[in-house]
Amino acid sequence: MSSVGIEKLKISNFRSYINLELFFDSAPTIIYGKNGVGKTNILEAISLLYPGKGLRRSSLRDMVNLSKNLPWKVEAVCHRNNKPFELETSSDGKGRVVRIDGKKVPQNNLSSSLKIIWFLPPLDRIWTESSKERRKFLDRMVFSLDINHAKRCAQYEKLLRDRNRLLKDHIADGSWYLAIEKQMAILGFEIDSSRRYFIKDINKTLIEKNLHFPPIKLDLKDEPIENNEAFFENLINQRNNDLVSGRTNFGPHNDDLRGFFLDKKIDAKYCSTGEQKLSIISIILSNAKLIKERQNASPILILDEITAHLDEVRKENLFSELLSLESQFFISGTEASIFNSLRTKAKFLELDEKKKSVA
Ligand SMILES: Nc1ncnc2c1ncn2[C@@H]1O[C@H](COP(=O)(O)OP(=O)(O)O)[C@@H](O)[C@H]1O
Ligand SMILES: [Mg+2]
Repeated sequence: MSSVGIEKLKISNFRSYINLELFFDSAPTIIYGKNGVGKTNILEAISLLYPGKGLRRSSLRDMVNLSKNLPWKVEAVCHRNNKPFELETSSDGKGRVVRIDGKKVPQNNLSSSLKIIWFLPPLDRIWTESSKERRKFLDRMVFSLDINHAKRCAQYEKLLRDRNRLLKDHIADGSWYLAIEKQMAILGFEIDSSRRYFIKDINKTLIEKNLHFPPIKLDLKDEPIENNEAFFENLINQRNNDLVSGRTNFGPHNDDLRGFFLDKKIDAKYCSTGEQKLSIISIILSNAKLIKERQNASPILILDEITAHLDEVRKENLFSELLSLESQFFISGTEASIFNSLRTKAKFLELDEKKKSVA
């Protein structure tokens, strides 16, 4: 298996940091310090070494350090099987710029260099959040194993907006819709299939390779789309109904991820807050195991305040699962004592007010 990791991270004019340089090795990194000291900001910078909007899903503008108002940049020296490579990402005022080994490349190329997956506290509430949040959570995991998924979703969303605009404008003439619907049907079927393929895979891992956390089974709300012709026909047949509501009512954009607790035989949304958190932890760990199996390389894990509200036994189980993944991981918390059992196995990075702008 390939060993992949970040060795050096340099953050400039990003959030609370003017200029910060950090060095890591293969040991886990514990980032600890008081509330507001800048732990999540470092984790967010690392998450930008992967395609997307980073773990906070903020605008690029919000990431600019407020006191300097200069362009931000995140640079990293990484390695794969002892071979070093450099990643760099910044904002040029219009969008995100990515360079690999100094060469400007499309953002999506980052995912062939590193796989990064993350947990952050709002995910605890995912089962009671909007279906949009759950779809995003699912699609990010699908993308971690199927590099074309994000592109398909973005193209589908654009076509969906075009179709919805026609519906809102009460355009009844079918000739305006057909080309859009044909493309939507092809992409929609592919999106639905790749989600289902992923769910089937992760369910196996969630049930068979999950020693410490409650077994959970994932599913989608809607029936599978049979093929693109069936979805195309459905779009045509539903057009009159869609004209009344001014939106496209059926399709992968309207589907929903469901979790089912097998022990209790109940939907995850009815479980206690603690149980819901455990379900997300097992999904994230299973996603990491799948990447390890399928891609033959461990993903990097970013775990922001993941131990909050976990009992001692669960917390230790989580640590041992993380160590057995043999992945580089970054984990944050307010106190070093939370991570006492990792004392000899991890590198501890204490953040304080001074570290906010180490020049
Ligand atoms: N664009 C920005 N410029 C300067 N400071 C910022 C910016 N965005 C957030 N911050 C500051 O970062 C701090 C929060 O850092 P964060 O990493 O979330 O802390 P925590 O250690 O609790 O995770 C806050 O004090 C906030 O004011
Ligand atoms: Mg934080």
